[in-house]
Amino acid sequence: VVGGLIFVKLGGSVITDKKKPFTERRRLIKSLAEEIYSSHRHSDFNLIIGHGGGSYPHTPAGRYQTHKGIVGDESTLGIALVQDAASRLNRIIVSYLLEAGEKAISVQPSSALVASNGRIVSWDLATIRLMLKLGLVPVTYGDVGLDQVKGCCILSTEEIFCYLARHLKPDRIIIGTDVDGVYEGDPKKDKDAKKIPIITPKNAVNLIHLLGGAGGLDVTGGMRTKVATLLDLVREVDVECEVLNIARRGVLEKALKGERGIGTIIRRE
Ligand SMILES: Nc1ncnc2c1ncn2[C@@H]1O[C@H](COP(=O)(O)OP(=O)(O)O)[C@@H](O)[C@H]1O
Ligand SMILES: [Mg+2]
Repeated sequence: VVGGLIFVKLGGSVITDKKKPFTERRRLIKSLAEEIYSSHRHSDFNLIIGHGGGSYPHTPAGRYQTHKGIVGDESTLGIALVQDAASRLNRIIVSYLLEAGEKAISVQPSSALVASNGRIVSWDLATIRLMLKLGLVPVTYGDVGLDQVKGCCILSTEEIFCYLARHLKPDRIIIGTDVDGVYEGDPKKDKDAKKIPIITPKNAVNLIHLLGGAGGLDVTGGMRTKVATLLDLVREVDVECEVLNIARRGVLEKALKGERGIGTIIRRE
């Protein structure tokens, strides 16, 4: 692909209020859509956007324990409700991207892929490849997954990006969240926690146990799982990832325009 391929995640912690069920942050979503467009309009990189679910799908996912699989009579109803919640948030994100000028097009994981014990095992990416070829911007998202072992699971945007990265080989992965990077402790609980500039599989051995879970309701595990998933990815695919705070105005735009090291870089070496 000419100009390269960048994956961008809009964290559920940013686009929703994770402490309030079904509460999106429209003003922030609008300005993020504008930041994406203003860095993308005069450049030739391809973009895949993924967004977290925040307080949309995590509300039914928590109630029906969807991440644990089929655990009771109501689990199947849970699958349908999680898909509904995730896709409703997706329509909101896509509509703001369209309004900003992006040729955004929705990609629904739950109806397209198969998981096995929470990991994606098959997903035909022919459609996404054609979208990219046409200059469309696929917008995928954390969703419920149909799982051939446990019936259902929750797929984080990071898990989805890992599968896509193995097959599409992006040049960069930008993980936008609501903290300035990965710290030696949860920065929301420990004001003295130090930011870690670069994480590699080598230095991660001494760091990973310091990382904590998510803010608010989130069944996918928060920062520790995020970093562990990205470390697994960079071991396998040579791609530079960066976790940064896109709730701060202008940060996403700067990163998309090529600035590195605003947050925490995760890479192979
Ligand atoms: N060591 C850490 N460094 C940074 N953030 C951490 C750390 N430990 C826990 N967190 C928490 O992880 C949250 C980000 O993870 P998560 O809630 O899953 O965000 P997202 O919705 O963007 O995926 C932050 O809001 C922060 O409170
Ligand atoms: Mg998360």
